[in-house]
Amino acid sequence: MAFGVAMKFNSLPKEGEPLNIIMRPPLEGEEAIVSAGISKGKVNEFTNTNRSVTIEMEHEFFASHAKEANSAFWIIAIGNDDADDIGRPIGVSSIDGIKDGRGGSGCIIFDTDMWGKGIASACHRARCFYAYSRLGLRAIDSTVAYPNTGSYKALLGVGYAVTGTLYSLHFTGGKWHHLHSLTWVNPDKYKWDEFWCDNKPPKKFVVARKKAKATLEWAKQNITFL
Ligand SMILES: CC(C)(COP(=O)(O)OP(=O)(O)OC[C@H]1O[C@@H](n2cnc3c(N)ncnc32)[C@H](O)[C@@H]1OP(=O)(O)O)[C@@H](O)C(=O)NCCC(=O)NCCS
Repeated sequence: MAFGVAMKFNSLPKEGEPLNIIMRPPLEGEEAIVSAGISKGKVNEFTNTNRSVTIEMEHEFFASHAKEANSAFWIIAIGNDDADDIGRPIGVSSIDGIKDGRGGSGCIIFDTDMWGKGIASACHRARCFYAYSRLGLRAIDSTVAYPNTGSYKALLGVGYAVTGTLYSLHFTGGKWHHLHSLTWVNPDKYKWDEFWCDNKPPKKFVVARKKAKATLEWAKQNITFL
């Protein structure tokens, strides 16, 4: 698996024209743009990296990911038009550490001019769809630092639910921050039943399931596998 299958779809802006988004495997030479992007102080303030990454480190990351069976990694790119299947890299996303039908998600939009245009929200939809349609996952987990409102809202919007708080785990801006712990449960009947088994789903997950179903419905209509 290693790298996710390429997908194409449009962003969901509140205003303005939708953008052509492509999630695809990295191309030769893109280590430079990714390492520079994720090393920006404004970008990695709330990521687990919180450090600079060199081209060599990113090259090693791509090479080790190519051999991994339990993850799916994508470059997020913006296409010039509908016919563009490559686009300009502006971020990365992944499902990592897949085990027992469950993985962890991450997303970084490193072109800060592209923040607030609905790109992460659309990419989360595509990633959930991939987890449902290609990986058959029961669930996806994530953590978000309390001050990272954009990431928190984007995850809640596609049907993640908050499972708890991890106290005082992320240090930035001279302070320790708590993390929200979140889980997206696959809303498909069989995966949902498999996840909850004999346990009654908490109400917040029943509410989140409606959003997760809407996410998959949108994805079925809007996502093209390349
Ligand atoms: C966090 C991040 C992924 C959000 O991406 P994005 O494409 O800007 O997000 P979206 O445009 O889809 O916005 C999602 C929601 O958050 C809101 N939002 C976005 N940025 C926000 C901000 N800085 N403050 C408050 N709300 C914000 C949007 O209005 C939208 O709200 P809605 O769901 O009510 O419409 C992006 O800012 C980023 O990559 N940051 C650096 C890396 C990072 O923190 N990654 C996540 C680690 S958990």
